[in-house]
Amino acid sequence: MNESKKLSVSAIKEGTVIDHIPAASLFKVLTILDLESLKSQITFGTNLYSKNLGLKAIIKVSNKFFKDNEINKIALVAPEAKLNIITDYEVVEKKIVQIPENVVGIVKCVNPKCITNHDEIVTRFTVINKSDVALKCHYCEKITDQAQMKILK
Ligand code: CTP
Ligand code: ZN
Repeated sequence: MNESKKLSVSAIKEGTVIDHIPAASLFKVLTILDLESLKSQITFGTNLYSKNLGLKAIIKVSNKFFKDNEINKIALVAPEAKLNIITDYEVVEKKIVQIPENVVGIVKCVNPKCITNHDEIVTRFTVINKSDVALKCHYCEKITDQAQMKILK
């Protein structure tokens, strides 16, 4: 194998490769998928060159196959992410992520006066713009846009 063709992060035998994550969203994606609590082997790389994204990140999770509703949550911070399902070293399926209609938990409401920032209430939003993600709070109706989006742990 030619030096320039070597994978920056080694291939995996079984599991899920999440590719085309904007580099700035890597840690948000790790949090959203709660990968910290997973016992599977996880490798990731960031600030890798990508023709389309500029700098991208990639996450490889061995022996883990996510449910669509779990994976769609990452669309909030990585709308162009692509999932590759790997079986015996081969890519057997490719999936794109889809922005959900509603977001429960995960995101903090931008409004400092919102009840969710004072009481122990799970945040709830309606997705009002799917291309440049914007979330409308169910409680205070304020809009949290992509740039303001803070991910709750
Ligand atoms: N991959 C991996 N382990 C494997 C097979 C593939 O980690 N056993 C990774 C590759 O490194 C790549 C991604 O899975 O990041 C998708 O693989 P492939 O479809 O072969 O690559 P591309 O054609 O470049 O994919 P894309 O659809 O993103 O253009
Ligand atoms: Zn609110």
